[in-house]
Formats: sequence, C-alpha cells, structure tokens
Amino acid sequence: MRVLIAYGSKRGGTAGLAEMIGDELEAAGLDTVVKPARDAGNLDGFDSVVIAGALYAKRWHHDARHFARRHAATLRSLPVWLVSSGPLDDSAAGVIPPVKHVANLMSQIGARGQVTFGGRLERSARGFPASAMAKTKAGDWRDRSHVRAWASAVAEELGRA
Ligand SMILES: Cc1cc2nc3c(=O)[nH]c(=O)nc-3n(C[C@H](O)[C@H](O)[C@H](O)COP(=O)(O)O)c2cc1C
Repeated sequence: MRVLIAYGSKRGGTAGLAEMIGDELEAAGLDTVVKPARDAGNLDGFDSVVIAGALYAKRWHHDARHFARRHAATLRSLPVWLVSSGPLDDSAAGVIPPVKHVANLMSQIGARGQVTFGGRLERSARGFPASAMAKTKAGDWRDRSHVRAWASAVAEELGRA
C-alpha cells in the first residue's frame, strides 16, 4: 500500500512533522512518499493520502488547501487523513477541533479523520508577526509519541481496508 504525505509548510516545522508521519507509517509496513503539496503531481499509484498543513491565523496553509481542492474528486475515492500543526503549547496533547475550512474539506472529500499536532516556532523566526511571537512562544511542541500513536491507528485502518 502506497501512501502520499503532502504538506504545506512555511517555516519547516510541518515539513518535519510530515517526515515523522512518513517514518512511522514506513515502520508500520507502508510504502510512503513525503512531498511538498505544491510539487505533488497527480495521485496515480497512491492508495491513500495524508495532507498536512501549518496553521496561520486559524487558516490551513494555502498549499495544503489548494492541494485538497485541486484533487478533491480523486481524494473522495481514497482513504484520506488531514493533519494540522500547530499550537505552540501543550494543548495539542488533547483533542483540538479542526479549523473551519479543514472541517469543510473533511466533508467535501470524505476524509477518514483529522488531527492537530503541536507546532514549532524557532527563536530566530523572521518576519512580522512571527519574530515578535518568537520572543515569548518559541519552542517545539511536535510530539513524536503522539505522531506514532496516530500513525499506528492510521496504518491499522489501512490494513483493514
Ligand atoms: C504568525 C503566526 C500565526 C500562527 N497562527 C496559529 C494559529 O492560528 N493556530 C495555531 O495552532 N498555530 C498558529 N501558529 C503556530 C504555527 O502553526 C506553528 O509555528 C507551525 O509549526 C508552523 O508550521 P511551519 O513551520 O511548517 O510553517 C502561528 C504561528 C505564527 C508565526
């Protein structure tokens, strides 16, 4: 089973999260390809797709949004999961509801599930307002054990499909 993990990331944190998801799905025996959503071509040859997007001002990264809309017809026929990243605190250890357009996309493409993982903001982040936020909120809340537990549930569901 071949799984595409397509991501939209501005500062690299979600790209790293997508790699983590790929590693965990590979460890569970799946064949994975991790790619920026803007470079992912058509979905030929993939049996499942994970779309991961960074959250900025409660909006999913536009590359993730555009990818989901562009491929909506094909995605409707595949098992799909949507991933958001993410809060710069411990709140993602609990369950966070999806932002509005991720919730809308869930129903448009019939996604199997969604999750919000913690995010990362580097102290050296540039550009406003990221640099101002980094003075008080810099850190890395991407939790590999959370990713592992989620990916193993995804792999189990794909195994049953
Ligand atoms: C300007 C700015 C706005 C943000 N807005 C949100 C938000 O609305 N919700 C959220 O959970 N995280 C928010 N974050 C945190 C980012 O989602 C987090 O840093 C994420 O890991 C960024 O991913 P990237 O490195 O792939 O771009 C924001 C971060 C910045 C710098």
